[in-house]
Amino acid sequence: MKREESKSKPCKVICVRIRSSEALFEQNKVRCVRQSRLAMLKWNSSARLFSCASFGKLWGNLVYEEGSAMSDQLSPEAAEHRRPEHEVDTQFLNRWSPRAYLPKEVPADVLGSLLEAARWAPSSGNGQPWRYVVARTLEDRERVLSFVNPSNAEWCAQAPVLVVVFAHQVQANGNPNRWGGFDAGTSWGYLALAASQLGLSAHAMGGFDKDKALEALGVPGDGSFEAMAVIALGYRGPKEQLTERNREREKPSTRRAFEESFFEGRFGTGLKV
Ligand SMILES: Cc1cc2nc3c(=O)[nH]c(=O)nc-3n(C[C@H](O)[C@H](O)[C@H](O)COP(=O)(O)O)c2cc1C
Repeated sequence: MKREESKSKPCKVICVRIRSSEALFEQNKVRCVRQSRLAMLKWNSSARLFSCASFGKLWGNLVYEEGSAMSDQLSPEAAEHRRPEHEVDTQFLNRWSPRAYLPKEVPADVLGSLLEAARWAPSSGNGQPWRYVVARTLEDRERVLSFVNPSNAEWCAQAPVLVVVFAHQVQANGNPNRWGGFDAGTSWGYLALAASQLGLSAHAMGGFDKDKALEALGVPGDGSFEAMAVIALGYRGPKEQLTERNREREKPSTRRAFEESFFEGRFGTGLKV
């Protein structure tokens, strides 16, 4: 099945279980998920399975369950807690920032895919001021945890991957880059959405010691890089593993009213669309 063909037959992902080299789907309810490797699958309707040589190689043992972000449906928890005021793609509502992670490795190709999404963010003058330090080994993660605030470390220590995102605050011509943080934020947003689309969780944290981060991770000492956030990344775990306070917070957040964020013409006049 070519990508173009699969695009012309959109339908809902009900269940996708990928075991090394093949994927089993419920017939007629499979769609090609935008920009995902599912487009590379070949449908064998009599056997009710997709052969996926390249897919298996790329994605290993990923398991997507019904209702995961791979679905184009609103997840039950997003439906319970989030009320959009306008029509919006469900991927934006399904993404949120959980704190409970499974001690399950993130395959290298999945990690590469998430970071690839971050790489294609727009930036001022295409300066791409973001830099990411990825901590996957115990040693590297402990180094990151050494500068994360205890209130964050208590839950993010479980995450199999910790990522520190930096912004280069100096442009190529030597002038200050006042959009560095803005652009790094856009890049992290791409990563977060890509993670959610692939059934992973990503949770950004500003609660860490920025100076210690620069020192611990060997960032050039010329002051041109600023540590913006630490990101916990991985597969979601049961909320029972969290402390009571975090367990209560383990749900999608809401948003202020549309008109309080978007204005018409001048600041403060709620936009009505
Ligand atoms: C730059 C940034 C810093 C954040 N810092 C923390 C933090 O230190 N600890 C934490 O638990 N969550 C932190 N968060 C997560 C936010 O609280 C969360 O994104 C927000 O409440 C919206 O919820 P949602 O991501 O689930 O939609 C941070 C998020 C961002 C983008």
